Amino acid sequence: IDELLSEGVAGKRVFVRADLNVPLDGTTITDDGRIRAVVPTVKALADGGARVIVASHLGRPKGAPDPVFSLAPAAARLGELLGADVAFAEDTVGTAAEAAVNGLADGRVAVIENLRFNPGETSKDDTERAAFADKLAGLADVYVGDGFGAVHRKHASVFDLPKRLPHYAGYLIATEVGVLKKLTDDVERPYVVALGGAKVSDKLAVIDQLLGKADRLLIGGGMAYTFLKAQGHEVGISLLQEDQVPVVKEYMERAEKSGVELVLPVDVLVATEFPDLKTKAPANPATVAADAIPADQEGLDIGPETRKLYASKLADAATVFWNGPMGVFEHPDYAEGTKAVAQALVDAPGFTVVGGGDSAAAVRTLGFDENAFGHISTGGGASLEYLEGKTLPGLAALED
Ligand code: 3PG
Repeated sequence: IDELLSEGVAGKRVFVRADLNVPLDGTTITDDGRIRAVVPTVKALADGGARVIVASHLGRPKGAPDPVFSLAPAAARLGELLGADVAFAEDTVGTAAEAAVNGLADGRVAVIENLRFNPGETSKDDTERAAFADKLAGLADVYVGDGFGAVHRKHASVFDLPKRLPHYAGYLIATEVGVLKKLTDDVERPYVVALGGAKVSDKLAVIDQLLGKADRLLIGGGMAYTFLKAQGHEVGISLLQEDQVPVVKEYMERAEKSGVELVLPVDVLVATEFPDLKTKAPANPATVAADAIPADQEGLDIGPETRKLYASKLADAATVFWNGPMGVFEHPDYAEGTKAVAQALVDAPGFTVVGGGDSAAAVRTLGFDENAFGHISTGGGASLEYLEGKTLPGLAALED
């Protein structure tokens, strides 16, 4: 983007593909991290006199307008953060978007409505995506990719549009890629990775890669129960992906052979019911050993011994990557595991990276200071796929 700015952007229509996919409670944004992250790029362009068109997806609407997934709240928040009026177009490539773009003065910003309200955005059919990308290209002179959270999607605005316009990477994408490179090339050791979250199937590919990279792998969250089962323990009614048990067993054997320390919970918090996340009524969990989960109980967080154990395994880390909460952190009775891991990252002497999605939201909603971490990624799936060594369509299109 510095190259683009030095060439001069005054009067140019610049399309910024951001990731404003923020969590909402109705129309209230509960975590604006992704919006704040794109401000430097938008501000630099606006300050340079560009006519800035910001576009993004939000949620997973079904290819048609749906007010639940409107970007209007995100547009309003972007305006607040920029301290400037931001126009909002109620469609994406229709008359409202054209009018908003045509009405932009130099240095002003417009947000267009959710890209996924158009089926061409996410279509698997190249021709359908191309047709939508052509329409988007008609709105702008230049493309800036800065939606790091979506670079792993082969979508029209991420993959096809940059091929149609002079294209540049924004500040956020440059920062994110710089950080993730540190974790893949010449990582400083000990390199400790903490993985949590509900489904082990989402993390298999990254575990596969990390078994050849990391020194220690700490496992928590719902996915830990598939590991405990693979170790031969019963897990009661905890989340379990029975079909993944053989794969996980194989990974555990590989870890042993390659000298990677794979660390599993030694105790867990259990209850007979999933907690009520709306009322947050007390759940009164019990603590049990990880190899003694009663048949009618569900594991919902790592226990106090595991918290200490994981903190000790992070204490000397030169590099840490953490993705996925350790328990149901949205309920106060099950937040301690996630808090303990976040605190251990804060205390770790080395460079710490929080991989986006739920863990980034957890860090902020649990009250941690963002600046206490080396980097909080805006990309959940995107950062995992980067670490898996995959080619990310949105980055490939920018490099092209
Ligand atoms: C995310 O939240 O990880 C990104 O915004 C991508 O969203 P998606 O998984 O719906 O494509």
